Amino acid sequence: MEADIDRILISDKELATRVKQMATEIAQAYAAPEGLVLVTILSGSIIFLADLIRQLPIKMKIGLITVSSYPGSSTESQGAKLLSDLNVDITGRDVLIIDDILDTGNTLRFVRAKLEEKNPRSVKTAVLLRKPSKAPKDVTADFVGFQIDDVFVIGYGLDFDDHYRNLPHIGVLKTEVYESAAS
Ligand code: XMP
Repeated sequence: MEADIDRILISDKELATRVKQMATEIAQAYAAPEGLVLVTILSGSIIFLADLIRQLPIKMKIGLITVSSYPGSSTESQGAKLLSDLNVDITGRDVLIIDDILDTGNTLRFVRAKLEEKNPRSVKTAVLLRKPSKAPKDVTADFVGFQIDDVFVIGYGLDFDDHYRNLPHIGVLKTEVYESAAS
């Protein structure tokens, strides 16, 4: 796996430090968090969620929603598609969407619209990574872990063709790996 990485972009220590800071920021933002539901977009956010919630000293529930935007060995967003709908009731609840990365913004826009149909009290978003170049102005994140350049990253939950999620750091995938998968 490590041989397929061009370079480590964010180390496991940097991830741990920043995720802890994000948990503090989130806890401070929810003064009365009794109704908080963390809606997690599967599968890329699983490790971020697991680390974040163990640093989050507030009462909350977890909801799961599965959306596909980069099917198979693609590194270009193919548009968001719902694979499985939310498994908890969010009516009247404060919702925090948890996503791994904000890139084109298609996924967050799609999920937010789906959730707003269910009449939550509020909807905010937390993303571990943000690629600044492509996301339109109307798609924003309230909590951002790291701003990164427009490179395809893997590890810490993020995949290429469903591999590399178990890398403990965020790495840049070698161009030849996805070029050879595409050919
Ligand atoms: P959009 O473009 O919808 O992207 O904002 C959000 C989803 O696309 C996936 N994504 C990536 N996955 N490395 C990945 O492993 C990347 O560099 C990358 N960029 C986007 C990811 O599933 C994310 O939730």
